[in-house]
Amino acid sequence: MTICKTSFILALLSFFIVEVSFAQENKIIIHANKGKDTISKHIYGHFAEHLGRGIYDGFYVGNASAIPNINGIRKDVVEALGELEIPVLRWPGGCFAEQYHWRDGIGPVKDRPLVVNTFWGGVTEDNSFGTHEFLELCELLQTEPYIAVNIASGTVRDAYQWIEYVTSDKDSEITRLRRNNGREQPWKVKYWGIGNENWGCGGSMNAEYYTNVFKRFSTYCNAEFKIASGGIYDDLQWTKTFMAGIKNVPGYLNIAHGLSYHYYTIVNNWEVKGSATDFVEDEWFRSMQNTMKMEANLEDHIAIMDEHDPDNTIALIADEWGTWYDVEPGTNPGFLYQQNTLRDAVVAALGLNIFNNHARRIKMANIAQTVNVLQAMILTNADQMVKTPTFYIFKMYKVHQDAIHLPSEVATQNYVNDIGQIPALSVSASRDKNKNVNITIANLNPNQNLVTSIEIIGLENFRSIKGSIITSDKMNALNDFGKEEEVYIHEFSDYKKRLSGIEVNIPSKSVISLSIGDY
Ligand code: AHR
Repeated sequence: MTICKTSFILALLSFFIVEVSFAQENKIIIHANKGKDTISKHIYGHFAEHLGRGIYDGFYVGNASAIPNINGIRKDVVEALGELEIPVLRWPGGCFAEQYHWRDGIGPVKDRPLVVNTFWGGVTEDNSFGTHEFLELCELLQTEPYIAVNIASGTVRDAYQWIEYVTSDKDSEITRLRRNNGREQPWKVKYWGIGNENWGCGGSMNAEYYTNVFKRFSTYCNAEFKIASGGIYDDLQWTKTFMAGIKNVPGYLNIAHGLSYHYYTIVNNWEVKGSATDFVEDEWFRSMQNTMKMEANLEDHIAIMDEHDPDNTIALIADEWGTWYDVEPGTNPGFLYQQNTLRDAVVAALGLNIFNNHARRIKMANIAQTVNVLQAMILTNADQMVKTPTFYIFKMYKVHQDAIHLPSEVATQNYVNDIGQIPALSVSASRDKNKNVNITIANLNPNQNLVTSIEIIGLENFRSIKGSIITSDKMNALNDFGKEEEVYIHEFSDYKKRLSGIEVNIPSKSVISLSIGDY
């Protein structure tokens, strides 16, 4: 009896110690009194290229289609994306931007030339989706357009005339052309990309050469916000060359407003990227680890930009990011069609937390690529449509759009794997216009729940907490056509209010959002 009692007490004690040590190991402190930077809503932006079934079949089916549409644009897709309040959409590429000639995509559709999309699948592009169609799509989505001009196979004149066609309210041959094509008023397009990946598919330029080309184009491109192409993700020299090279232009701050940054999460290598759905835990781990590497890389670029532009006038624009796997079996390798699982949801949460936490310099990010391509929000199959796990992360995270970023300190256990170890928790927080503190937390560990204490300095006497969660019992849970959704947003209530804050039990492989209010 005594032995039983002692072992019961010991068991109780060890349970208590384990509880306490978990709570001590995983601790998040949010500085609600130190918010300074706004998390630009444009961090929640998207990218849509003429690639595979992204535009055609994805956004656009043509007005003769039996699939319900508005001037050829799918109603179901517009309605679903409306839930995400997409702030900005980048188009027409990507690599395709550098072979795109905007005059091919205006005027009566029957007269538009057929061209071959040499970058993506070698398929015929009929140009039925062009400038007017894209800008109508943006109007339907209530999103800001971001157009990338062709600087590799197009001329400076082509580029500035496209901008004139779209944005000018003056009378000219070009604006008359727009009016003849049915659009009296100019559109408001603030964001213009000056090239894309000009180190690679955009002309294989080196940094010096690109900087000069950029200056030439930008001088004539009369646009409000011009975004330069960055180097390959770890090419810090490119960033240095560009930032130093634009300074010799009088009034240089007006020629470049943003510098682009691309980073894809690859699990293995570019030759064998691995399956989107059929993977083992090591591959889950590497997806997390490789996404996490983006943070240090971004900080290196930001340090260079801070040195050359201490007033923070030129934004870092992460205008392509996300997971990239081998295409789904049986699909065109040039179409980059991949399924999307809980792993993608956690990667998206991790990426968005990183961008939120660097909101001072990162003013826009565009995940690749909205519908049917790479880490998409939506997959379509004829008239069917599914919302992917990544869709639900963007829905959950929209509370951060244009909110004040709150700095956080995170003490976390590591997620340890044969390959290595990484911090198991990823966190970002913000205060919205109603003064609610919104905290988003990803538990990257697929095997272990993490009891975590959260202290909010500056909001100790909160009155309400609302929680939501995205998780599933399988790492590769997904949403598929004609089946019930496996991954979506549920209510979450596994937390307790404590004297010093909140204690929350964060399930393995999950993303949670807590909205804490003083109401
Ligand atoms: O998103 C797919 C491709 O990846 C884009 O066209 C290009 O910019 C990048 O290499």
